[in-house]
Amino acid sequence: MSAVLDLADALIVFTPSGKRGRFPLGTPVLQAARSLGVDIDSVCGGRGLCGRCQVVVSEGEFAKHGVTSSSESLTPISEPEQRFARRMKLEPGRRLSCSTKLLGDVVIDVPQSSQVHRQVVRKAAEAREIDLNPLVRLYYVEVREPDMHEPSGDLRRLEEALEREWQLTGLSCELQVLQTLQPVLRKGEWKVTVAVHDEKTILGVWPGLKDAVYGLAVDVGSTTIAAHLCEILTGEVVASAGLMNPQIRFGEDLMSRVSYSMMNPGGAAQMTIAVREALNELAIEVAREANIAVEDLLEITLVGNPIMHHLILDIDPVELGGAPFALSTDMAVNLPARELGLKLHPNARAYVLPCIAGHVGADAAAVMLAERPDLADKLTLIVDVGTNAEIILGNKDRLVACSSPTGPAFEGAQISCGQRAAPGAIERVRIDPVTLEPRFRVIGCELWSDEPGFAEATKKTGVTGVCGSGIIEIIAEMYLSGVINQDGVIDGDLSARSSRIVPNGRTFAYVIADNGTVDLKITQNDVRAIQLGKAALYAGIKLLMERLGVDHVERIRLAGAFGSHIDVKYAVVLGMIPDCDLEFVDSAGNAAGTGARIALLDATSRATVENLVRIVEKVETAIEPRFQEHFVDAMAIPHKTASYPHLSKVVTLPASKPSASQNETRGRRPRRA
Ligand code: FES
Repeated sequence: MSAVLDLADALIVFTPSGKRGRFPLGTPVLQAARSLGVDIDSVCGGRGLCGRCQVVVSEGEFAKHGVTSSSESLTPISEPEQRFARRMKLEPGRRLSCSTKLLGDVVIDVPQSSQVHRQVVRKAAEAREIDLNPLVRLYYVEVREPDMHEPSGDLRRLEEALEREWQLTGLSCELQVLQTLQPVLRKGEWKVTVAVHDEKTILGVWPGLKDAVYGLAVDVGSTTIAAHLCEILTGEVVASAGLMNPQIRFGEDLMSRVSYSMMNPGGAAQMTIAVREALNELAIEVAREANIAVEDLLEITLVGNPIMHHLILDIDPVELGGAPFALSTDMAVNLPARELGLKLHPNARAYVLPCIAGHVGADAAAVMLAERPDLADKLTLIVDVGTNAEIILGNKDRLVACSSPTGPAFEGAQISCGQRAAPGAIERVRIDPVTLEPRFRVIGCELWSDEPGFAEATKKTGVTGVCGSGIIEIIAEMYLSGVINQDGVIDGDLSARSSRIVPNGRTFAYVIADNGTVDLKITQNDVRAIQLGKAALYAGIKLLMERLGVDHVERIRLAGAFGSHIDVKYAVVLGMIPDCDLEFVDSAGNAAGTGARIALLDATSRATVENLVRIVEKVETAIEPRFQEHFVDAMAIPHKTASYPHLSKVVTLPASKPSASQNETRGRRPRRA
């Protein structure tokens, strides 16, 4: 009896999961996988249409599994596979597991791309892979045609098919789906693809096979809005775009937008309309780039600072304008995207990540989701530098967060020659400590300004100004070369030996470029603006360090566009961030945008971020009496009292040159921007 069974059965081993089992000869590989709980994707339900179930036969002797495996152990290439290969691309060696049957013992490899819950590769700057766990799934079904002898509604027969083929029960259905269901079923000749959200709600039905749906992950900054269009089922980013936040016309910084809303009845609603229009514009742009229709966008995730968060939701941010900075909600908001005025698929869902506190927004929550400091052993400091810096400090034991009003200087604003990062903007600077001569590089040109060919290479763009990362380098280099002292005062005495130091009103300025067509100088006021910004940032960090009772951090991650371009050494020279082994200071890339993408692609991450927001301890810099003290001490470069042992190993810091001018900053407290 057992000999007969042996003949009729075969062993199948799936890698990389290692799951194994014996199945009767002739069992489809997909069916074997399903019964062993092996994760293989499918949209068409095993009809050889979608191509999502591809596997590869591992050839050879596998002593570990006790199997000699070869393609002979499977049925020859089937008709559905040939059909699929004619229509789409089927790489050599790949088989459709739904159309391939078992003939003997075999080892089957399930490639990442065929797994439902796979990991999505992220960029090097980003901390970890994204687990793919989409909330919206597609199901291809064949629906029974209506029958006069057995009358039932089309929706009922659709639901029966979903239950029969995909074991989905108790589904609800959007009204719009119902309104379009009959023509869609007939057009598809009773074969349709159904998009189901969270295994609960039918969001859309399309005739025939549809094998891709898309989602949008959006980071709404006060200056720019950035969107990534992702294929939800594969996690691939298929298009990205950004545009200026049109709310800028109501106020450059956040507080002026809040005041606009306070002083103008209906002002908040106007800003809501503006940001929503921009979101719709972005959706159209990325959809066009990806060559899809905006109606293919079934989900959107949104992150932003608390004021952006409120305005997107059409909530007047007036309460965020003053203490106690009460949020309307600190919970995530899950709703139909149409309620936000978004013109995507009519039933698209929107998920707005939760804010942490009145000044620490859903963008910071997204940064935490991307960086997961709560899993770290090392005490990690994460700084997202913007007009308000959002700061998170902690590790697996405890997390604290705050925001600090750094002002727009780090973005090149409020700096006499500052500009946004664009071709022609100075981004790298070195100053010779002996001659005080500068050399620099501009965005869009690989050459340094003292290298042959520079003038020719920059002829088109010119040298137009200095961007945020360039400002940091110039001021740090001015300090390292002795042009400014520890208090940030430009040394006028140096004008006697260098034409780069020139009088500028009652103070002095340092000339970076002056070739007749451009005249770029760093003035005393520019240095002050950077000092004020960096002192506010450091003071916020120091408050968090005090809250945790620590005197140093072990790892620093700089998030945001600024963090991606800055040379971290100069950020430490300037004292923007505390001393740390430079090996452990790096860029986190656009972590807020990545967090939005994670929330889009991995449904389980939503509970994670909602929990992180709950456990992080909030520190409100505006009411902390010690903030002012830390701020004044941090005006000095790198700092009045803090020591920089790690930095001293890689940079020779100048001996301090005293100056009387520092007192002018006493009593100033930075304003929330
Ligand atoms: Fe769709 Fe195999 S499951 S092609």
